[in-house]
Amino acid sequence: MLKGKCVLVGITGGIAAYKICELIRMYKKNGANVKVVCTPNAMNFVTKLTLQNLSQNEVYVQEFDVKDWKPEHISLADEADIMVIAPATANTISKIAQGIADNLLTSIACAFSKKMIIAPAMNCNMWNNPTIQENLRILESRGIECLPPDSGFLACGYLGKGRLCSIEKIYNETVEALRYSQKLAGKKVVITSGGTIEDIDPVRYISNYSSGKMGFALANVAKDMGAEVVLITTKPFEAPYKIVKVKSALDMQNAVEDEFETSDLVIMAAAVADYRVKNQSEQKMKKGVNDILTLELVQNPDILKGLCEKKTHQLVVGFCAESENLLENAKEKIAKKGCDYLIANDISRNDIGFSSDDNEVTILEKSGKIEKLEKASKKVIARKILEYIYE
Ligand code: PMT
Repeated sequence: MLKGKCVLVGITGGIAAYKICELIRMYKKNGANVKVVCTPNAMNFVTKLTLQNLSQNEVYVQEFDVKDWKPEHISLADEADIMVIAPATANTISKIAQGIADNLLTSIACAFSKKMIIAPAMNCNMWNNPTIQENLRILESRGIECLPPDSGFLACGYLGKGRLCSIEKIYNETVEALRYSQKLAGKKVVITSGGTIEDIDPVRYISNYSSGKMGFALANVAKDMGAEVVLITTKPFEAPYKIVKVKSALDMQNAVEDEFETSDLVIMAAAVADYRVKNQSEQKMKKGVNDILTLELVQNPDILKGLCEKKTHQLVVGFCAESENLLENAKEKIAKKGCDYLIANDISRNDIGFSSDDNEVTILEKSGKIEKLEKASKKVIARKILEYIYE
């Protein structure tokens, strides 16, 4: 499964380092060329000889152990298809997040521009430390994938979250990431996310429960698949691709139309308000004497329908949020909007749809073909949607 791929394994100084011997064996057994780089502290937990025998390659620890004209932190970064740091200690996570390159491993991480996966392992109080959590958010916002630790008995005697996740999980995520890595290379993918905000006055607005997670997951996966990604969103996401921050449906329409001509795929995962307030008040509205206040609303443009009417080479994908008769309504909607695919989800359930980390969707094709994707994390659903569309 990993034939022809070079996996760069980074090991830092934690007790879970011994488990990585098994991970290296799994990579090797499945055909990968494995290069290992350790921090000096990792050497307190595993020996160079063990790692060398398992990887069948030289093991790198010292930054200035120069053998070639090209510095090792550059050549190892160039050669690898993916970098997997496991276990990743609080110290190494924080250094990478802040751009500190004070040993060979952190220098490589600083120079590494391809897919990186980190599997943290540490004491539960260290894991819960707000600085560590903030640094993890920084890494994730730069496209580095974090496999959260498991809960259980920790080597330090505590019971809590901090155990390295299973070796099988790290292995499977590596295989998945490499499988998808270049599938969308050369494609420009535009994705919308979040609920639009329609002002009533400077204080109040009309919006909906969309967290933007579904669109964000699609954008991250598209990026991992090698696409040039533009995320048009109402939410304050950070990521290593272009993000256009918008507020109202009209803002979103302008932003999408600016990107449309040069795009190959547009996915409208945003929950766009169908109506906006007709006369937005510039000043805060005062409480009147009447019990009832009537707001007059006007219809917003249908962004998705507009794109479908003027599309040339682009694939246009809509979402469909329904609280009843999902399939019937979705069939009607794909015909009405004219998009190539429509992804229908049930937003009456708490465990999927709005705000949840999971989703369960049905893909409808223009041709009438229908495919159900069982409940899974939004990231897995995003992968399956993009894979379905392109395969
Ligand atoms: O953001 P999350 O919390 O992760 O939740 C994800 C989600 C539930 C918001 C997402 O999965 C989803 O269903 N998005 C579409 C929500 C929606 O507005 O559905 P709709 O059935 O009302 O609209 C159909 C399609 O038309 C959508 O692609 C929508 O973006 C688009 N639309 C709608 C109105 C409008 N004026 N212009 C549009 O382009």
